[in-house]
Amino acid sequence: MSHHGRVEIVVLGRADTPDGEVVLRRRGDIVELVVNGVFAMDTVEVSSELALADAAGTTPGRVLVGGLGLGFTAARLLGNGATGIDVVERAGPLVEWARAGVTEQLGRVATDPAVTLHHGDVVGFVRGTDRVWDAILLDVDNGPSFLIHADNAEVYTAGCLADCLDRLTPGGRLLVWCETASSPLELTLRRLAGRVEVIDVPIAREGREFTYALYRAVR
Ligand SMILES: C[S@@+](CC[C@H](N)C(=O)[O-])C[C@H]1O[C@@H](n2cnc3c(N)ncnc32)[C@H](O)[C@@H]1O
Repeated sequence: MSHHGRVEIVVLGRADTPDGEVVLRRRGDIVELVVNGVFAMDTVEVSSELALADAAGTTPGRVLVGGLGLGFTAARLLGNGATGIDVVERAGPLVEWARAGVTEQLGRVATDPAVTLHHGDVVGFVRGTDRVWDAILLDVDNGPSFLIHADNAEVYTAGCLADCLDRLTPGGRLLVWCETASSPLELTLRRLAGRVEVIDVPIAREGREFTYALYRAVR
């Protein structure tokens, strides 16, 4: 336990993985996830994680989610009536912590009978199955222009995105979360799927304003 200003920091979990260190910590009321030494997310402003789930539609059906994070997208999908959710998470310890209920929400997601947590790389998972989903939601990294894991560049390639589209039911939706607009990604998706929608999610954080972008392609 350490102190930062007057706010107490409690480490909920810390582990080394082949992809770097994963740390889950509580700073006052805020939970933070640090992956590979880089801030991945916290619980302060999660409207884009929720918007990602909502972009799967009002009847999400069966959904594949790439990246468990703190479970906001998966929990929202459950609330929206998703009938089955596969969550693929690359950081093994995070999957274990979720199963152990290290945060209330992660515990709820992990134990919901509609949810299956998988430890692995979402790209390999998609390529290693012949299953199909009604929506695939990718929120594994910041987007193609600012990667936490260099090899996540693969996620945003035409090859991977085409494989994801192949694993969708007709009319199924592919959603990609990005911390900033990416015209190369938009172009790639447009070439593959014909039509792409960009859903802007304006965010205010620590007095600064950002616009996250969600890309949606329909099979
Ligand atoms: C920003 S978080 C996801 C946040 C999530 N949408 C939520 O609502 O809490 C990104 C997650 O993706 C995981 N991740 C990174 N690369 C991955 C990959 N290639 N396959 C699966 N998970 C990955 C990270 O370990 C992290 O837990």
